[in-house]
Amino acid sequence: MQLSGQRWPAAASLSGQYPADGCITADRSDSMPATIIDGKAVAASIRRDAAVRAARFEEEHGRAPGLAVVIVGDNPASRVYVNSKKKACAECGVYSEEHALSADTAEDKLLNLVRRLNSDPNIDGILVQLPLPDHISEDKVIEAITPAKDVDGFHPINVGNLVVGKPALRPCTPAGIMELIHRTGVELKGKHAVVVGRSNIVGKPVALMLLAEHATVTICHSRTADLPSVCRTADVLVAAVGRPEMIKGDWVKPGAVVIDVGVNRIAEKKLVGDVDFDGASAVAAAITPVPGGVGPMTIAMLMQNCVEAAFAAQR
Ligand code: GUN
Repeated sequence: MQLSGQRWPAAASLSGQYPADGCITADRSDSMPATIIDGKAVAASIRRDAAVRAARFEEEHGRAPGLAVVIVGDNPASRVYVNSKKKACAECGVYSEEHALSADTAEDKLLNLVRRLNSDPNIDGILVQLPLPDHISEDKVIEAITPAKDVDGFHPINVGNLVVGKPALRPCTPAGIMELIHRTGVELKGKHAVVVGRSNIVGKPVALMLLAEHATVTICHSRTADLPSVCRTADVLVAAVGRPEMIKGDWVKPGAVVIDVGVNRIAEKKLVGDVDFDGASAVAAAITPVPGGVGPMTIAMLMQNCVEAAFAAQR
């Protein structure tokens, strides 16, 4: 397990670094040498920290941090996500309220709700679950959220602050990816990070976060020439394309850290990532599994954003 000629820290020392969480586990068999990055354990640890901070906020301010979750229509996946977010709030001591609107809700009605939540003193974070029905402009709705309550980190002001390196609410999945990378112990400075996927929600923001930590960053997409060759130069490879097992083991540089953001259902009960896990884990130094890697981090980082938005509003 090599990383750019340096010995990768032994799994024992990694778990020694994070003894309370058991965040990193290692599979020591010869056929699968990569350290498996345990996103569930890291997420649980972040949620515990958020709960401690939420309790402190309540002690100091006489109310819990508050999140408003808005869902429009009856997209089943959105319903599952919203329920998970509310459950996480309950576990972390964050007050949550749901605003469920019918699929034919007028755009103006949704914008008025957002404006009302913007001025609600008990609400620190506003999350409008995406996608929205076609007749509603997602851009308009995101731009209507006051940036200080934009716990998704999607508002152009927060995106702009990320670009110029100013403090901002950061989008949850990319922030979770950075936490996982940090916990491998890899030094990003001077390393080549390759991000496959250029979405506004994951690819672009994670590339900016990697750049802010002095990685040399390449963003790849569907028109990139010879994608396998570019991937083979990655010390850190982030796959966020939404194509089942597209990234093969022989696209991975030996010793690389591989972060798989994909969640693709290929059979009723089988989820796979964007990376061929068996192939990649035979050569990578560390890799996230699917499920149980990046997935649990998104809601954990949302809890962190809610608590930080609440404290920031009091400063
Ligand atoms: N839909 C899928 N992922 C997300 C997310 O992270 N935030 C919001 N608001 N909607 C989503």
